[in-house]
Amino acid sequence: MNFDYADRIKKLPPYLFAEIEKIIHEKKAQGLDLISLSIGDPDLPPPEIVINTIKKEAADLQNHHYSLSQGEPFFREAVSTWCKKRFKIDLTKDEVICLLGSKEGLVNIARAFVNSGDKVLVPDPGYPVYSNSSAILNDGIPIPIPLIEENRFLPDLEKLDPKKVKMMFLNYPNNPTSATVDKSFLGQVVDFARENNIILCYDNAYSEICFDGYKAPSILEIDGAMDVAVEFHSCSKTFNMTGDRIAFAVGNKHLLNGLAKIKSQVDSGPPVYLQKVAAKALESYKSEEPPEFLKKNNAIYSRRRDILVNQVNSLGFACEKPKATFYVWLNCGCNSLKFANKLLEVGVAVTPGIGFGKYGENYVRFSLTQPEKRIKEACNRMATLTKKDC
Ligand SMILES: Cc1ncc(COP(=O)(O)O)c(C=O)c1O
Repeated sequence: MNFDYADRIKKLPPYLFAEIEKIIHEKKAQGLDLISLSIGDPDLPPPEIVINTIKKEAADLQNHHYSLSQGEPFFREAVSTWCKKRFKIDLTKDEVICLLGSKEGLVNIARAFVNSGDKVLVPDPGYPVYSNSSAILNDGIPIPIPLIEENRFLPDLEKLDPKKVKMMFLNYPNNPTSATVDKSFLGQVVDFARENNIILCYDNAYSEICFDGYKAPSILEIDGAMDVAVEFHSCSKTFNMTGDRIAFAVGNKHLLNGLAKIKSQVDSGPPVYLQKVAAKALESYKSEEPPEFLKKNNAIYSRRRDILVNQVNSLGFACEKPKATFYVWLNCGCNSLKFANKLLEVGVAVTPGIGFGKYGENYVRFSLTQPEKRIKEACNRMATLTKKDC
């Protein structure tokens, strides 16, 4: 027997994160007390409203049938109400679709619109799904958009070549750099997409994890965005529901119809009880301000951020405090794998920047997804390292 993988799978680069997971697993199996600051999976629990509603709605036998692949009408209504409160944007139910996690939507939208050989602009460093799954697995060609520190990790739109580009992914608040944007920059992005007939996929997975008064905008707040853009949101990080797999996309109806067409052929919607849970969680927004539980979570992340950033800066690095996300992106000034290995030697796991693309080299990403005590312990362990170690 000889079952060869499809060519598109052979084009995938090695998945560095799986390698890191393996090392962490091995170290733990050897009995080492490793502090993992590498994974973007919140340690904080889902809010009470989520747990209570899951218990109630999962117990209702009517909630276990197939659901509509674009999402139940009540869920889409709840999303549209949330968007109005949070971003002051008006959306009909047809401008909302429910997803089995935003990752699924990010890949299936490209499946709906990218033809073989089409170019797909992807941030570098960036969430690897854009390049590997949205582009390569759909036979598209990923073209990196360099995100460099000198440009505050924003794309230099004038340097991008729009020829043969069908789709563009952007993500702010950004993983891994934790960079943020303002509406005037988003205006330039929308102009660029409109002038060049490019589908703009705006990943806003971290919109609710903001600090120091910063409020992440929606691309759909920008005039003309509805003509070209789809924005992705997720309950994963907002409500600490990474394992539950529920998210949504909003925006241009034609683009969402394409996504719905794919989804109707490959899956059904998330369980009805989960859609009821997510709707309830979204309803806890009474205004554009986040509900109390989110404010508390963000206060926890910002305390952890301060501890970590103060420590690395005291070791001779220069790291700014991010205004959003639960990541700290450190310019370690040397080979990122080598630096991550040095941290592993002292019992701290981080993600080497090279795993997010070529422009991630010389950086490492810390996730603030461990309790404060463990972050402090990680800082103590790192105290033996200095910038000179690079
Ligand atoms: C930028 C970004 N987008 C999307 C996702 C996927 O989230 P979901 O759990 O909704 O699939 C992640 C997960 O880490 C992410 O970092």
